[in-house]
Amino acid sequence: MNAPLKPSASLRQRLRLQLLGLIAILSLLLYFSVRTIAGGAAETTQDNILSASATSIIEALHAEQDDILLDIPYAALSMLGANSEERVFYRIMTKASTITGYDDLPAPETFPAPEQPVFYNSEYRGSAVRIVAMTRVITVRDTPTEVLALVAQTRLGQDAITARIANTAAALGVGFFLIAGILGALTVESALRPIVNIAQAVQRRGPHDLRPMLKPAPLELAPLLASLNSFMERLRTALLRTEDFIAEAAHRVRTPLATVRAQTEIALRRAKTPEDREALRAVIRAVDESARSAGQLLDHASVTLRADKMERGDVDLSALVKDLVHGLAPTAEIRDIRIILHPAEGEFTTIGDPVLLMGALRNILDNAIKYSPDESEISVVLSAEEELCCITICDSGRGLNDAEQKTLTRRFGRGSNVADVVGSGLGLTIVSEVVAAHGGSFRLTPNKERGTCAKVCLPRK
Ligand SMILES: Nc1ncnc2c1ncn2[C@@H]1O[C@H](COP(=O)(O)OP(=O)(O)O)[C@@H](O)[C@H]1O
Ligand SMILES: [Mg+2]
Repeated sequence: MNAPLKPSASLRQRLRLQLLGLIAILSLLLYFSVRTIAGGAAETTQDNILSASATSIIEALHAEQDDILLDIPYAALSMLGANSEERVFYRIMTKASTITGYDDLPAPETFPAPEQPVFYNSEYRGSAVRIVAMTRVITVRDTPTEVLALVAQTRLGQDAITARIANTAAALGVGFFLIAGILGALTVESALRPIVNIAQAVQRRGPHDLRPMLKPAPLELAPLLASLNSFMERLRTALLRTEDFIAEAAHRVRTPLATVRAQTEIALRRAKTPEDREALRAVIRAVDESARSAGQLLDHASVTLRADKMERGDVDLSALVKDLVHGLAPTAEIRDIRIILHPAEGEFTTIGDPVLLMGALRNILDNAIKYSPDESEISVVLSAEEELCCITICDSGRGLNDAEQKTLTRRFGRGSNVADVVGSGLGLTIVSEVVAAHGGSFRLTPNKERGTCAKVCLPRK
């Protein structure tokens, strides 16, 4: 089994967090800018009104003999009184004394230059106030005198506006955060979709599928995909080379084995003592088994090699099965086993590679013979089931252990029921690989009373 890959931090998580952080900062910025700009604008409005009021008061000042007199124009203060809760204060003063108004209204330390009013915040009679200070030079008995006009207004309205603006800014910030958050999440998903698609495409593949990935990939993923493809290509070449090597090795082993067998048979005929004959028979059995294993290795290698570029043609299964039974009947007869091929009606044509299919069925029938007792029967039945044609081979042998079923089709997997029967454990591997390459199914089930049934179903043409 592969060790589970430990993923480092999730790309999606990281993107989401970064986007969320960015959006949060932008939302705060939006909140503060709206507050500052709108608050500033509201203050400027108040300052303009204060300034207009102070101007009209200061314009109304006039000198009469030694005194400076003031008739406050009605409009000067009424323009400030729009909000009934707001209180307005004023003070007209020279450097020496207060001429009229609230003489404790806080004044700046120095008189501002004429035409350059000064605005400031202060506390007056328990309320926060905004004050404008404006200077005018009035000539009293030929002496220019600086007169300062202070007009103050409580900041109740201003504070209310500021609070309203703060609420609006907060709502705007939260709204922006939510909308940008949703859009950000959607963007992350759409940015990651190609990666997810490629990962799923790789995951969907079977373990033997080493074809290159031809899905279009975004520019940034193209190098990854290209390396993946080149890796799979190298793997495929390496696998084919290995199978090729196994096939070649098996082939080379078979020829000298045949020579050894022939020579041993000659020796067996000449052997004088029963001990010698027994020993030589054991050699022959071992040689036969080695040849069989080598043959299966060769079969298995050619399945892997051929399944890749499998020939696909019409295969008449009834003819194939007839040949198969004919081919293995002599092996069965040695042990007085009868193979009964039940006559089947109709056509049983599938599309595939006849050499591979024959190899697979031969392994099934070979098992049936191997694991059957002497003087027993094996039945071979061809049947049509909807879109499938099935071949069922039943023996009345030793049967198999249900719990082991899955491990039997693995390479070199043998059951606990084999006892003295020799084998390589490659037969069912070949069967399941060939059947899978043909889009078919393979199942082993217990026979009615005794033994095993092996059933292969292939798509009907
Ligand atoms: N007809 C059968 N009856 C009983 N057991 C079987 C039969 N066919 C296969 N098996 C079990 O499945 C195992 C795997 O089969 P196979 O791959 O052909 O290897 P082997 O070389 O042992 O025959 C066998 O070792 C045996 O335990
Ligand atoms: Mg076998």
